[in-house]
Amino acid sequence: MKYAYTSSVPDYEVLRNKSNLSFTVLVVLTMGSTLYYLDTINMVDRDPRYRYPHIQPDVVDPIAIKRNPWYPEEILNKPHEIIAPKEDYDEKRMILYHDMVSEYDARIFGAYVHSLSIPLSPEFGPADELWQIDEDNHYKGFRIINRAIFGLTDQDIEKIYNRQGNFEPLKHLLSDELRICLTVAYDELCTVRAYRGDLPIYDAMGPSVGKFVRRVIGDEGWHYSKFLRLVKRYHPDEIAKALEIVNQIRAAEGLPYQQTFVMDHIEDVFTTKLFDEAENVLKKNLLK
Ligand SMILES: [Fe+2]
Ligand SMILES: [Fe+2]
Repeated sequence: MKYAYTSSVPDYEVLRNKSNLSFTVLVVLTMGSTLYYLDTINMVDRDPRYRYPHIQPDVVDPIAIKRNPWYPEEILNKPHEIIAPKEDYDEKRMILYHDMVSEYDARIFGAYVHSLSIPLSPEFGPADELWQIDEDNHYKGFRIINRAIFGLTDQDIEKIYNRQGNFEPLKHLLSDELRICLTVAYDELCTVRAYRGDLPIYDAMGPSVGKFVRRVIGDEGWHYSKFLRLVKRYHPDEIAKALEIVNQIRAAEGLPYQQTFVMDHIEDVFTTKLFDEAENVLKKNLLK
């Protein structure tokens, strides 16, 4: 661009003022969009409509609807009242740590499923989205408990964010939507039963922890039913195949857990009896 040599071209002073004005406008716009973006993030954290978006395809009786959203920060709002275990402190610390990180691993699982680029039915996305929000809530609640009574530090939390999953041993169970839904449904059933089995441990930590874990159990049951409904609605002709896949899922019990969210069955509460019950309930419901 030329500067002020002819009357048809603005002089340098004008250009400089315009340039200053442009710079100011740019700064204001950048700050504005940054603030808007940050506010959107905050909004996602505090507004149920954003946390539980009702993004639904045009279907009757949609699968992905969260009717009673809840927030771990509201239930566990007095962390100083959470009671540290008086007996078997290390064992309970390990259980609560595993609860926290395995809930966190839902993020790793979700990312893996998306990386597969496989065909998905129209309601899988919305169900997955609500599921992810719930699991994140569970992680955040267990994080509050671990901070309050087990000395979890910011450095420990940073390590959680660096967790990596290895899906290689499970990839035969996650190669298409039918298998993914069945694996999640089976896993959620196991989780319901395991949290229920450990309720005395949670209740001993105080009423807020007991209440929180009961809400988590409610969500896990909800997840089971939603993934089961996805199977029945979008794969009605594959029930015989689904039963065979459940056998394969059950056969994968005992593999070392590698941050995959599903099949995180490493505590004592996960027994052969629990796995058998989960397998039988899932099969029975597939045949209903
Ligand atoms: Fe969960
Ligand atoms: Fe779940």
